[in-house]
Amino acid sequence: MKHIISPLDFSVKELDDVLCLAEDIIADPKKYANVCNGKKLATLFYEPSTRTRLSFEAAMLNLGGNILGFSSADSSSAAKGESVADTIRVISSYADICAMRHPKEGAPMVAAKYSRIPVINAGDGGHNHPTQTLTDLLTIKNLKGRLNNLTVGLCGDLKFGRTVHSLINALVRYENIKFVLISPEELKIPAYIREEVLDANHVEYKEVSVLEDVMPELDLLYMTRVQKERFFNEEDYVRLKDLFILDMAKMEYAKDDMLVLHPLPRVNEISTEVDNDPRAVYFKQAEYGVYVRMALIMTLLEVEKPC
Ligand code: CP
Repeated sequence: MKHIISPLDFSVKELDDVLCLAEDIIADPKKYANVCNGKKLATLFYEPSTRTRLSFEAAMLNLGGNILGFSSADSSSAAKGESVADTIRVISSYADICAMRHPKEGAPMVAAKYSRIPVINAGDGGHNHPTQTLTDLLTIKNLKGRLNNLTVGLCGDLKFGRTVHSLINALVRYENIKFVLISPEELKIPAYIREEVLDANHVEYKEVSVLEDVMPELDLLYMTRVQKERFFNEEDYVRLKDLFILDMAKMEYAKDDMLVLHPLPRVNEISTEVDNDPRAVYFKQAEYGVYVRMALIMTLLEVEKPC
């Protein structure tokens, strides 16, 4: 039985297999309509979500399976003090697979230790978000045509942004990836990512604080939200939240084929005028999230690909 807690739980070959399966699902979704008949997915969300929870649920429904779960800690027995370990022991008898989001880093790993069903980390604190990374990789592969030879700009909250941490972990395994890390001093990438991931893999990167200066060199720009919920004081959040706003004036500096990605939700870090630019692919990216989660559920449940 396999759990997905970090993007590194898949080898590059296994990742490519999931992406290929997702592409086959995109090409012929009807073929997959009943492959999970009789199977149940539990979504255990201790933290708010729109895309991740609903795309997991849509994925299982698209495969012919069923769903159950909770969408906030308050509506579960966590509010009465139940531990993650006890919860997953119980859910293991109710469902065949589960996706868990939790504000505490490492909570899905604890769940995996006590679980009798595959556990998927749907985001743990500021740590990892592996299924967002699968979504991002599928988007890049499909819309850019490759996962290598890319200069990738990551902009915004690089300190707490789990989507950024997971994406860096995944992309360093592909050839000739360069990173441009764009953030204020206070939201720079954590030292452990710099040292244990970027330096350890001899990946080229630079840290800058002005988005316009680096726009011309980027193949991808991955924007992120400054996350109010991760700050200890409101003053710091208010000071930092509007430092990077992508608008059409800044898009003028970008290559004609640069893509703008964002895990969403956005607040105001991408002006809505950018939405109509063909290089803005963040809503398409959210759509890809359903297909890649269908592929992931099938892979973890060891469901045969239909002919
Ligand atoms: N991208 C993402 O994780 O969105 P949600 O918080 O809405 O799930």
